[in-house]
Amino acid sequence: MKLECENCGFEWDYQGEEQYYATCPECQYEVEIPAEAEVVAPERDIEDILEEHPAEQSSLIPILQETQEQYGYLPKEVIEDIAGYLGLPESKIYGVATFYAQFRFEPQGEHVVRICHGTACHVKGADAITETVENELGIDTGETSEDGTFTLERVACLGCCSLAPVIMVDDTAHGDLTREKVKDVIDDYRGSSS
Ligand code: FES
Repeated sequence: MKLECENCGFEWDYQGEEQYYATCPECQYEVEIPAEAEVVAPERDIEDILEEHPAEQSSLIPILQETQEQYGYLPKEVIEDIAGYLGLPESKIYGVATFYAQFRFEPQGEHVVRICHGTACHVKGADAITETVENELGIDTGETSEDGTFTLERVACLGCCSLAPVIMVDDTAHGDLTREKVKDVIDDYRGSSS
């Protein structure tokens, strides 16, 4: 669940088990967990998603978005189901989905590492950070490690340029990075992987 610190404004994806308070990773403030955040969205399969949308072409983008939200990517079999439901050729669905950068066709790793290549981060050494992370993970940008732990992506400005160079791992930003610091960040996530 997403939490925002009332003290420092930091936002993060809270995955702990406390029901009432969580500690802000930035300033250690005790943040109240809103009651509604405890409600877990029901799991839906593709049939559930399809039956909530009319079988017409204008439903395609919302169906793709909800499918990716549910599965984490757009599996091939699910694209076949969507094509059958909407009466569209699969090639048309791939054509639309590949047009939008938000859609993925491969499962993501347990942790998604996004390296910012916006102007500020570029000037402050995003290329060196990228090279270090690629070497550490043994993959190129755009790939997922063989053990499924990390996916590495390149993104434009993450909105915290004063911390350049910045990477985002899952929903947490890490800034003021050097080659050494980014190795430590990656090691922390390695250690936390199940
Ligand atoms: S350029 Fe990297 S956070 Fe803005």
